[in-house]
Amino acid sequence: MRKKIVAGNWKMNLGIQEGVQLVNDIIAKLPVFQTHQHVIFCTPFTHLQKVNEVINQTKNSSLHTGAQNCHDKTSGAYTGEISIAMLQELGVNSVIIGHSERRQYFQESNEFLKNKVDALLANKMHVLFCCGEPLEVREAAQQNAWVEKQLQESIFHLSAETIQQGITIAYEPIWAIGTGVTASTAQAQEMHAFIRSLLQATYDEDTAQNISILYGGSCNAANAAELFACEDVDGGLIGGAALKAESFLPIIEAMK
Ligand code: 13P
Repeated sequence: MRKKIVAGNWKMNLGIQEGVQLVNDIIAKLPVFQTHQHVIFCTPFTHLQKVNEVINQTKNSSLHTGAQNCHDKTSGAYTGEISIAMLQELGVNSVIIGHSERRQYFQESNEFLKNKVDALLANKMHVLFCCGEPLEVREAAQQNAWVEKQLQESIFHLSAETIQQGITIAYEPIWAIGTGVTASTAQAQEMHAFIRSLLQATYDEDTAQNISILYGGSCNAANAAELFACEDVDGGLIGGAALKAESFLPIIEAMK
């Protein structure tokens, strides 16, 4: 069975104490998970150690911490960057790679992201790989070609075994991020099915069926259940609604 995942991407929000409080509030009301269900808290770097301590105390193997970025090199003169080993020392096992905000504001190219993916997988880390088109591409009905190129240039060089073990794909249409405009269930399902068809064509049926594909972009307590009910939507990557227990908990509960 495919993993079902709800990941909260806190972006550059919340102080450390606020973050710890949020995670404690969520933990206090968590539903009982099945083994294929997972929640990942992708906090700012500075919060990871404390949040990890909190979730470790629960001994709940469905809870994880994730970083929002990392560098592909092991060490060196890369001012302001963080290495994979540094994240592992904090107990982090997942990293978001290729978020549209990294691509847009920090000019991260498909080639650069490929290097990060390779470094992470060589270190047995779990990659939440983001893809998704801007509004003008959707309006020109070119979204499939756009997403295919992102996947082809950053992750489709991996072997079937490696991609299955290490990659979760997150489809995040840029026009839906932080805008309050969610993709319709039809739009989400259509793109997720397309991505799965690419996995089938590039690899095989087994790979296509085993890789989780999350939806992200104005996913909230009101629309999560409907989105997650789509056949090819395996959970969500949540921004704004992940910052409050009362909006994040119903999204976790919507995970089937
Ligand atoms: P919002 O849920 O705030 O639209 O953000 C989505 C996102 O970018 C998650 O990575």
